[in-house]
Amino acid sequence: MIQSSISIDKLIDIVRQGGRVKTGVDVYDSNGTLLLAKDVLVDKTKPLKFLRNNGLRKVPVASNGGVFDASGNKINIGSDNIPEPSPRDFSDPKPAKTQNVTERLKQIQELRRFAESMSSKAQACIKNAVNQIRHTEGEFNVDDVSEQASELASFAEQKHHPLAYAPRELFFYDDYFYSHAANVCALGSQVLHRFNTAFSNAVEKSLWSSPAQAKNKSAGMFSYYYPEEVDEMCFGLFIYDLGKSMVPEEILNKPSVLTEDETHLIQKHTNDFGFTIIEKNHLGSTVLSNMIRYHHGPIYEGEPGCYPFGLECRMMPPYVRICKLMDIYDAMISKRSYQDAINQVTAVTSLFRNYVHKDPLLQYILHAFVKTIGLYPPGSIVFLKNGQMAYVLESEGPLVLPFTNSSQAPLTSRPDPYNAGEQTGVLAIDSTRSIRHPKTVWDCLPAFIREVALPEEQVAAAVAAVSFI
Ligand SMILES: [Fe+2]
Ligand SMILES: [Fe+2]
Repeated sequence: MIQSSISIDKLIDIVRQGGRVKTGVDVYDSNGTLLLAKDVLVDKTKPLKFLRNNGLRKVPVASNGGVFDASGNKINIGSDNIPEPSPRDFSDPKPAKTQNVTERLKQIQELRRFAESMSSKAQACIKNAVNQIRHTEGEFNVDDVSEQASELASFAEQKHHPLAYAPRELFFYDDYFYSHAANVCALGSQVLHRFNTAFSNAVEKSLWSSPAQAKNKSAGMFSYYYPEEVDEMCFGLFIYDLGKSMVPEEILNKPSVLTEDETHLIQKHTNDFGFTIIEKNHLGSTVLSNMIRYHHGPIYEGEPGCYPFGLECRMMPPYVRICKLMDIYDAMISKRSYQDAINQVTAVTSLFRNYVHKDPLLQYILHAFVKTIGLYPPGSIVFLKNGQMAYVLESEGPLVLPFTNSSQAPLTSRPDPYNAGEQTGVLAIDSTRSIRHPKTVWDCLPAFIREVALPEEQVAAAVAAVSFI
């Protein structure tokens, strides 16, 4: 039973002075996402600041929880009379339904360019780190990169899967190393956040509740990651592949099949070059070390083709499994020197086919992933079964706007959007077809889609206006 609602600022003061808080009741945000589990004894200010950053001003404390001073004595604090802000103040501005197509096109264009500028900034940062590593045989400016990682992860949490809006079709394989880091960090941190808040209780109860199952709990002893642990994991999702900076570029971008020696050299980016980077930059925490060294390790019992040996699957923490899955996903949907990008639906299907039934923990992770990504992000382009191409306005449905005829010649006037999910015939989405030359497609978008783009200054102002946690 809720006994009182206490101001977060007051609780932060108490914790700062050595006190502790246990809510005794799960705390959710306005979207129903779990922010703080009822049994967590909070002894650091970060989880409380995390609640505040998610729009809460006070937290409920039930009779089975409590507020304790530095000596462990329960303190009696009455309820604070602070009105909670309306959920509209902090919820993601997701349009419920597209009523005005031009407005929605503008909104998508704005988000795409916003996400693009965020992605470019993150890519420039990782490029800088790669150059530093190449010139110093391993060292880079850890503070700069860590700051950029938390900025990117915060951006990802504020906007719903924002980099889905980024025109990845504009990236070429030369940029892959850098765009890959930005994409995995942005998407991976969202999946991690969702997995942590939505599934921690379920994982605890269904996978590790019996003594026979308890041995599996060694997988990172996961029950719930604290915000400071999540911050470190998001940093890991940005830098886990930096060992590749020590592999010659011509091998990384080689368009033909690698020789056995070249494959062996690339594989050294984890335990060998990665280890050098850990040592030289003092990144030896368990979290970072696991992510850098084992992100190509086995995430289910007996998974083939994994390296290096060292951490058995049972011990592989959820955050490393998330890192590995996001690494694979982004590699599949990116254009590389030796392959075209794979359609995102095909990539998700392939991840599910290969992983979902192999390990119960992976079911939760993949569930969090698919919830995060949505199959048809707004602004993406799909083929219809009759050969027409269409622009996605809303992922729900999805609601699409065809822009070519069935011979793929651009339409001159704008048709009405429709819900492709309700179609079974020629107007349904053809999920077997992917865009072969995406850049060309973007250049060919008809005026009724392209000409709603915002002027540069407006985009710059929107970017500057975002405040990061
Ligand atoms: Fe890697
Ligand atoms: Fe990778």
